[in-house]
Amino acid sequence: MNKKPCVLVSGGAGYIGSHTAVELIGAGMDVVITDNLANSDMSGVEGARRITGVDIPFVDVDCCDRAAFAEVFRRYDFDSVIHFAAFKAVGESVDNPMKYYRNNLASFMNVVELMHESGRHNIVFSSSATVYGEADELPVTEKSPRKPATSPYGNTKQMCEDILRDSVGAYPSLKGIALRYFNPIGAHPSALIGELPRGVPQNLVPYITQTAAGIRECLSVFGDDYPTPDGSCLRDYIDIVDLAKAHVAAIRRMIENKNKERYEIFNVGTGRAVSVFELVKTFERVNNLRLNYKVAPRRAGDVVAIWADTSLANSELGWKAERPLEETLRSAWAWEKHVRGIE
Ligand code: UD1
Repeated sequence: MNKKPCVLVSGGAGYIGSHTAVELIGAGMDVVITDNLANSDMSGVEGARRITGVDIPFVDVDCCDRAAFAEVFRRYDFDSVIHFAAFKAVGESVDNPMKYYRNNLASFMNVVELMHESGRHNIVFSSSATVYGEADELPVTEKSPRKPATSPYGNTKQMCEDILRDSVGAYPSLKGIALRYFNPIGAHPSALIGELPRGVPQNLVPYITQTAAGIRECLSVFGDDYPTPDGSCLRDYIDIVDLAKAHVAAIRRMIENKNKERYEIFNVGTGRAVSVFELVKTFERVNNLRLNYKVAPRRAGDVVAIWADTSLANSELGWKAERPLEETLRSAWAWEKHVRGIE
């Protein structure tokens, strides 16, 4: 009998990592989670354990601590790594670039180097649609040019993609997939895991759910004078469980040797553009509530519109976003209510 695949999920206590751990286990794989809990707590791991009924091994370690992280490679028998562990606040990265370069680059270099040294084969890197910047043509395909990054955060995504490409080029036993996420939103249908930002949310959906819960007074819609149908920005909001499943497909592709190149890139979105106003109105409608919101000035650094051409992921990964936006926005509110003890 073939051994079960085992995947190390770095940053697995976080929002995307915890959902991905659940889907990997659901697909019959073993998972080891590492996290330094810098921007999360154990609730994501505990939720994933409850959902799966599996006592998922967890190691509290910083990937930047090479010696401590190497110990994880000695202790556990995994062949694949999904690397989520990174800082992700765009504004903070502008104020404190060294924090971002040091953490996001050093941790990824340690992962790649340790994989190479210990003969591990498959790596998935969490990249972002931010690498496309303000695209000249929409929707963006994986062949659309990357634009110069507008923040150190975005720059670390580009640099890590390049580190992966060059490492795969140099080390014949290594295969890599960069997944470029569009805007992940929503929560697991169980409402046992979800997005739990610390402090004031920077992203739209957590701000909406916290406003609905009465934690924030009023949502600011950043700009209603963009050259879009209703004047607000357009994004491609991808359900978190769908996004998690894309990681399972990426790992499978490499394990089963179905990849066409040893380094590949896939957009992970829905292919559908949704405006800020449309998102707010859909949230209100499906959850049967009124949201306090106002129009505010544009936010510095926002692109007008970005959405994905997902045909490559659809045909090559055999993956497609499935959960309707309505259901995703219901899950986001169910999760916020669960966290706040509402109802
Ligand atoms: C940002 C990052 C992206 C990162 C993602 C997840 C950039 C340019 N964007 O995406 O790389 O992967 O966060 O952390 O680097 N909005 C409001 N009011 C709010 C909050 C947001 O109107 O209170 C609007 C924004 O102007 C934007 C949309 O909602 O039009 C989505 O914003 P957000 O959720 O912050 O995601 P992005 O900026 O698209």
